[in-house]
Amino acid sequence: MQICDAATSFGGPLCGFSSSSPKILIKGGTVVNAHHLEASDVYIENGIILDVKPNIKVGDDVTIIDASGKFVMPGGIDPHAHLAMEFMGSETIDDFFSGQAAALAGGTTMHIDFVIPPNGNLSAGFESYKEKAKNSCMDYGFHMAVTKWDESVSKDMEIMVKEKGINSFKFFLAYKGSFMVSDESLLEGFKKCKSLGALPLVHAENGDAVFEGQKRMIDLGITGPEGHALSRPPVLEGEATSRAIRLAAFVNTPLYIVHVMSIDAMEEVARARKSGQRVVGESVVSSLLLDDSVLWDPDFNIAAKFVMSPPIRGPGHAEALQAALSTGVLQLVGTDHCTFNSTQKSQGKHDFRKIPNGVNGIEERMILVWDTMVASGRVSVSDYVRMTSTECAKIFNIYPRKGAILAGSDADVIVLNPNASFEISSNSHHSRTDTNVYEGWKGKGNVEVTIAGGRIVWQNDELNVVPGSGKYVEMPPFGYLFDGISKADENYISSLKAHVKIQNY
Ligand code: URP
Ligand code: ZN
Ligand code: ZN
Ligand code: ZN
Repeated sequence: MQICDAATSFGGPLCGFSSSSPKILIKGGTVVNAHHLEASDVYIENGIILDVKPNIKVGDDVTIIDASGKFVMPGGIDPHAHLAMEFMGSETIDDFFSGQAAALAGGTTMHIDFVIPPNGNLSAGFESYKEKAKNSCMDYGFHMAVTKWDESVSKDMEIMVKEKGINSFKFFLAYKGSFMVSDESLLEGFKKCKSLGALPLVHAENGDAVFEGQKRMIDLGITGPEGHALSRPPVLEGEATSRAIRLAAFVNTPLYIVHVMSIDAMEEVARARKSGQRVVGESVVSSLLLDDSVLWDPDFNIAAKFVMSPPIRGPGHAEALQAALSTGVLQLVGTDHCTFNSTQKSQGKHDFRKIPNGVNGIEERMILVWDTMVASGRVSVSDYVRMTSTECAKIFNIYPRKGAILAGSDADVIVLNPNASFEISSNSHHSRTDTNVYEGWKGKGNVEVTIAGGRIVWQNDELNVVPGSGKYVEMPPFGYLFDGISKADENYISSLKAHVKIQNY
């Protein structure tokens, strides 16, 4: 397959396509939203969905896409990806252009990346990621990582929310010595997030215990990729998830747990949600599909490609997470796309602690979730749209601009053929990495057309993407998860006051 890249391959507008957005009519398909499913046409002009109704009539200047027998759905939104990320002595092989091109080929039209601030400096991090994202070919937003706590971080968080369009901050409880924050910093961060209407996200693994577990493995002479899984077992993910959730309850802030990889963590999310706490659990494709036997592969290059954190778990976890996703215990699916090629992974050949952590998935997410969750009969087509697109747009407060096929929404649309089939291979994928953790995976359903910002960017197995055409999407604070939080605080304060009165007698 070919990526028609104006900047690098053709030196001008590409493949006979113009970079302006044409008028498009998607005819005869089944339009699927998270709330509703209907036989309808979709008319697009100037990057916006103008009309959704049956039998729309148009002139000859309109490009027609026949969607008979197919589903017309909102483009996927990946809540969790790392492009051009410097991590563990390497930089991900996918930058904003290549990672997003791969995403578009797989039906994802927006992603939210994580700004990793140099030396914990949020403003410097934001500027550097704006620069990295200049060659974007699809829309994107940012989460901001908070890797230390002081007054300037607190002030910068305010600037990020009020001036820069960021409404979420990620706290790492793992990666001791680099990104990890203490409980004290986490508490300060939660309080600040709450006051700004920004959602705290937590990478939940106990970093001190992981450090100890790694030492244990090295002392035992276990230096291969299997040591990665053995050194950070599910109990450490369960502990950190529980801790983050309970501290969020103490502060009364909504909370989002990224990449829930284990039953242990999922059950903490389930318990909190059952008690009425506002906790969102994000699954990722690798947690839903893979098991850790791959880390024991005798070929280092194969085993190392599966090293990510928290680790891919043993038998039983993936099925339990699928069930949790299908019943709403977990709400959405991301990828944690964070690609390092074989050469980069091989820096940990003699010590698993040096293997850069991360797997691919931004291109494969939509079809793998379709195959695993819908083609298998686990969830409805509407639920599929909810968990791959709409829920993310709602949580991060950009709905219905994104995540819906409605008049007025951005024209980010896919056509999925449930009768087509797919086979995944690093020979045909669009990521720059030379391996694929889903190599050889075959399944039912495929994304045949992707429209992003009103332009057809993927059709007939061809990508037509323009570097620089992707827009930064500002995400306003106080999304729906914050509704009612101040009411609950008022009730809490009055109950405390009542208590103090009794003490005075
Ligand atoms: O292995 C992973 N997950 N790499 C990316 C960094 C993170 O923790 O999300
Ligand atoms: Zn191609
Ligand atoms: Zn993480
Ligand atoms: Zn991540």
